[in-house]
Amino acid sequence: MKDHFAKYISEDKWLLKENKWNKKMQSSRESQFALGNGFIGSRGILEEVPFDARPGTYIAGLYDKTGAQVTELVNLPNPINLRITAGGERLGAGTMDIMEHERVLDMKHGLLTRRTIYQNSHKKRFDYQSMRFVSMRNKHIIAMRVYITPLDEQASFTVGNLLDLSVTNVGFLTEGNKKHFRIEDVSQFDTGEYLAVRTLEKDILVAYGKSMIIEKGSSNRFARHVTTQIKLKKNQTACVTTIFSIFTSYDKNAKKIKPVVKGFLKKSANMGFERILHEHVVSWEKLWQASEIRIKGAPKDEKALHFNLYHLLICGREANGESSIGAKTLSGEGYRGHIFWDAAIFILPFFLYNRPKVAKNMLLYRYNRLDAARRIAESRGFKGAMFPWESADTGEETTPAWAKNFDGSLIHIRTHEMEHHITADVAYAVYHYYVATQDIRFMLKHGFEVIFETARFWASRVEYNSKLKKYEIKHVIGPDEFHEDVDNNAYTNCMARFNLLVGYGMHQKMKRRYPMEYKRLSKKIGLKNSEVVEWKKIVPKIVLNVKRNGLIEQFDGYFRKKKVELKNLKRHPIPPIPKSIKLKDIGKTQLVKQADVVMLLYLLSDNFDLKTKEKNFYYYLKRTVHKSSLSAAVHAAMAVEIGDIDAAYKYFEVAANMDLTLLYGNTSDGMHAASLGVTWQAVIHGFAGIKILNETLSINPRLPDGWKEVSFCLKWQGYNLKIAINHTRLRLQFYSKRRDSLKIKVYNALSRIEANKPYSFIRKRGG
Ligand code: BGC
Repeated sequence: MKDHFAKYISEDKWLLKENKWNKKMQSSRESQFALGNGFIGSRGILEEVPFDARPGTYIAGLYDKTGAQVTELVNLPNPINLRITAGGERLGAGTMDIMEHERVLDMKHGLLTRRTIYQNSHKKRFDYQSMRFVSMRNKHIIAMRVYITPLDEQASFTVGNLLDLSVTNVGFLTEGNKKHFRIEDVSQFDTGEYLAVRTLEKDILVAYGKSMIIEKGSSNRFARHVTTQIKLKKNQTACVTTIFSIFTSYDKNAKKIKPVVKGFLKKSANMGFERILHEHVVSWEKLWQASEIRIKGAPKDEKALHFNLYHLLICGREANGESSIGAKTLSGEGYRGHIFWDAAIFILPFFLYNRPKVAKNMLLYRYNRLDAARRIAESRGFKGAMFPWESADTGEETTPAWAKNFDGSLIHIRTHEMEHHITADVAYAVYHYYVATQDIRFMLKHGFEVIFETARFWASRVEYNSKLKKYEIKHVIGPDEFHEDVDNNAYTNCMARFNLLVGYGMHQKMKRRYPMEYKRLSKKIGLKNSEVVEWKKIVPKIVLNVKRNGLIEQFDGYFRKKKVELKNLKRHPIPPIPKSIKLKDIGKTQLVKQADVVMLLYLLSDNFDLKTKEKNFYYYLKRTVHKSSLSAAVHAAMAVEIGDIDAAYKYFEVAANMDLTLLYGNTSDGMHAASLGVTWQAVIHGFAGIKILNETLSINPRLPDGWKEVSFCLKWQGYNLKIAINHTRLRLQFYSKRRDSLKIKVYNALSRIEANKPYSFIRKRGG
């Protein structure tokens, strides 16, 4: 039997395969095989939607609250809903026997293909092949092609694809499933069908168009009815091509949306599947040209990285700042599509150095919600802007009051009351965006304002302790959420310092270099010089408890907590919580949920010396259970810095394979977005040693033994850099239309390199 899609499929290093039918794996596969283009996210369900499948169709930034504890990403009608009967029996997993089965996600081109041989109750076999994609070129298109062939005798088929309105959002806790839309319009065009739904709370219109073409031999026709009959001889093949389009009243005027969909559908049908596919493939090639990481000598690692980067690429969006990237991307409903610090700290750097426009969109998302952040600060008695711990469309706080703990018990959530570091995390991201892009227009219109308002928040958040002559930040939760309501969490305090200091520095810069814009902004937000001078004075007086041996206390009183040291970390890098400790008592121990002090050392690396890093890394490693997926890769990056390449590689491996090995058991809820992003960081900031020191790009790599060479591209201050690193040498070139030069630090030595010339640097012995 001909493999209809073989010609489109890339070489093996780009393929994620499911080689045999495994019903139990399907809900995880739906996340792993998700497709998307930053605007639409579509779970990788089987096209016939078996009864236990969890279809998910999400649009970035489209949330609704009806019936839910808090606002959530809406699960919209599912366009992929193929109904085929063969000889009167329904074709599909669960309704016929599966004789052979293979699904392949081609990560290079964002194509999901499938081949299944079914057998009905009369032992007659049917070959089913499908391919679908969410167009990377045209954000509004989903396309699908299916080939069906009776293998044993002639058969009649019915084929239909009703847009599936039965989908709901999964219910959390006691909520039950929720539907967030009502039907507004179902009608027919001559080239297809139209369906419009409206969300219940916000009244957002989402309009679908669908056109299906059936080809048999040399004839083809539009399927004008709900189901179409096809008769096929033995070994004769029919091809069913469906093109869907999705628009919302966010991107089009609601009144004009129906004619827009109609025209669009007609145009797409005229263009044809092959051309839509070709344009999609070309767009993917461009994306990978900028973001691929090649690793010679470690094909498994390279493939795992492709997988992580693929999932980042399908949720990156260059737009007007009305959406960002949620903790589970657009591949599932975990964390209800909410935006956390994950976006600013873990996910954004990948885009910053590969697709800066996506990073900008993520920051614009925060800027556009600055008023909401100001209201949050005010309601809590603070000044400036305080970002919510969990954010959705409006920028208000959307953290649910209750959630399930790891053991299934209910816990009261307090992160929104106390996990205040998010505000500094956003400022950190804005600052790094500026350093890496030099996008001064963004800063003048948006960035400076975010940095000033967040610095202002910290100046009002700190409390002066006249006895200590120090500023304290009390009643917080740090990244380690096992310990709630603590004082002087080292991470929070140091990030607040950073925010205040950058606030001061940026203020000086803006005032001096852009006096007109500064005048306008300071008037708008009522910023006074004296206030900014105060920021600088606060910084050195913010508490940071460091013991004489260099050990940083995670928060006041941490060292007095019950000592628990985890054993056997070489064999079990992600150790379980010791059985002797009950979850409800974990806050009484020194066990840490995820990188906290280590996170601080990683993000503010140049503030700490090597000895401090080493000391704290090993101390906290023995106490960290990595109950958040984002912890492992941070440890990988930090381990490289202290020269423990074996540990670094171990944590990198765990992180890169997290959603492939289903390590956390909840990949079915969606991909772990922060882990995807920080895995990239473990390679680029970790092994490749790319750091920003004093706003200069510095490269000091340390590769794992098994990697012969790692090569990649980076965008830095408007230039494209190409870098290849092996154990002894680093090759580098940057491109410019002008005769530019760049200051760069390689193997700790400062150089100036010129555009469009290849450079090669040799690592000194012992260097
Ligand atoms: C982690 C947070 C993270 C959130 C969403 C939690 O388990 O502790 O740091 O922001 O998950 O990924």
